[in-house]
Amino acid sequence: MLSPPMQDALNRQIHVELASANEYLSLSAFFERINMKGCAHWMRIQHDEEVAHAMKIFDYIHDRDGDVTMQAIDAPETMWGSPQEAFAAALASERNNSKQIGKLVELATAESDHSTHAFMQWFVNEQVEEEATAKEIVDKLSFVGDDRTGQFMIDQELGQRTPPPEIDAEQG
Ligand code: FEO
Repeated sequence: MLSPPMQDALNRQIHVELASANEYLSLSAFFERINMKGCAHWMRIQHDEEVAHAMKIFDYIHDRDGDVTMQAIDAPETMWGSPQEAFAAALASERNNSKQIGKLVELATAESDHSTHAFMQWFVNEQVEEEATAKEIVDKLSFVGDDRTGQFMIDQELGQRTPPPEIDAEQG
């Protein structure tokens, strides 16, 4: 059974993941708007990943006999100054998400809630990967600057992204 503070914290994390999903979808729409289809595709897969993260927590709360309560999600930004700014916004959100996950792990430790502590380790590791990937793309976009050929090549590369197996399975 989850403690009330832990249940609240996990519900807040569902909200963080879904707000992140919403932002990624807005980023996908931005890249569609500026005709960078590869980046739009990458952002859309990331949206799907964030929804999957939220659903992992949704299921975990129920597995622990807890109660999920949904919250309103604020409208995300819709415009960014450049592709680099758009990916920098994604990186900032991932860093914020990592902090929230860190707080959840700290709460699990304080409460000696070993199940939640173990469950959250997947998220801790996932954040390392997500921050590293977003940072790498920001750096590449910074390197090419306004060069259209460079941006085109990055767009082509990001268009190759394939969904992870668990998302492929969900979408059948
Ligand atoms: Fe669910 Fe991008 O972290």
